[in-house]
Amino acid sequence: MAAWRKPGYCVPNQDTYPHQWLWDSCFHAVIWCQLGQDGVVADGLERAVTEVSSALSKQDPDGFVPHMIYWAEPEAGTDFWGRSGRSSITQPPMYGHAIAEVVRAGGAVTHDLVGRAAGGLANLLARPRTTAGLIPVFHPWETGCDDSARWDDFRSDSGHDGDGPGGRDGEPTVAAWRARKGDFVAALETGRQGQAVGSAEFSVGSVGFNALVAWNIRELVSTGSVFGPGPGDLLAANRRAELTSAADELSVAVSGRWTGDRWADDGPGPASRIRTLDAMAALLVDPRPEGFADLIDPEAFGSRFGPRGVDRREPSYDPDIYWRGPAWPQLGYLMMVAADRAKRADIAAEVADMLAAGAERSGLAEYWNPESGQGRGARPQSWTGLGLLAERYRT
Ligand code: GLC
Repeated sequence: MAAWRKPGYCVPNQDTYPHQWLWDSCFHAVIWCQLGQDGVVADGLERAVTEVSSALSKQDPDGFVPHMIYWAEPEAGTDFWGRSGRSSITQPPMYGHAIAEVVRAGGAVTHDLVGRAAGGLANLLARPRTTAGLIPVFHPWETGCDDSARWDDFRSDSGHDGDGPGGRDGEPTVAAWRARKGDFVAALETGRQGQAVGSAEFSVGSVGFNALVAWNIRELVSTGSVFGPGPGDLLAANRRAELTSAADELSVAVSGRWTGDRWADDGPGPASRIRTLDAMAALLVDPRPEGFADLIDPEAFGSRFGPRGVDRREPSYDPDIYWRGPAWPQLGYLMMVAADRAKRADIAAEVADMLAAGAERSGLAEYWNPESGQGRGARPQSWTGLGLLAERYRT
């Protein structure tokens, strides 16, 4: 509640992240729904709708949804992004799921909101595809998994390798990545409103991102079916059919990236195959038993305060470094939901235990060491309230 800001969203953390972030706000909406249903926050459902609406309110005419909005300081990112008030890249379109959660909880959503969400998804579908048929991301940040080991192929010639603050030889550092990612912003090719439409330097078919696009389409479409055809239908039938078939195609493309023991991104080099938890979002659309087994295997992603952000068998696994191994609550939540939807209640319950334990032990940290539960990053972080949702899945 202390994180709530005008015109209706939560800052992820008031010091470290004092603006609005797209996928964070969608996860906040999921938490508001739960708080509303539990009777903890009387207007929880309304807040959920308000938060998703504000996250989609700076959409460009072509449907593009920026990943950040600078409500309080509209010019704070202007020099960096080349446009005012909002960023020029996007983030996973979790608004499909957030809206579906509102509808499932009995909340009311407007035609305008559902239309905006459909427009955002259609905008992503319109990006030119990679050779594997995936939607490319034009910046690592578009996946929400900023310093993932999966981007390491893009570091090799960067001249930023090695011994930055807190780093080790040959290991990436947060500072080194930050510089590199400024380069990637400069390399963006932009549309009329300054939104990313391509990149001269970074274009990757991220399995995790594509799985989330496909799944969020299915979630959004499911809200239409709640209302049924007719005037009350929130998503016109033809739009729904188009989106559904696009989601089906994307899911096939995601499955096509399964290599026998993991999903590989459509990227330029070996890092595309590093086993990271974000790629396991593929389980939402390609629920393979082998994938679920890795999720809880103590030698892979399973850990008391997990699931780990990187498979322990990877040489790059480090439980304390940003995006190189720590557990992240939003990914743990997605894994729990994936297992539940695949009717793997046993696995959903195990992941729920890990998530709840980590959220609590870390003091609601942004992310944490999956072995010890020790908090890392900002604290408290709003999305770590997702730990509350674990109760639904524990046995
Ligand atoms: C970090 C995370 C990103 C998140 C943002 C705000 O940049 O990597 O996923 O959206 O913080 O919490």
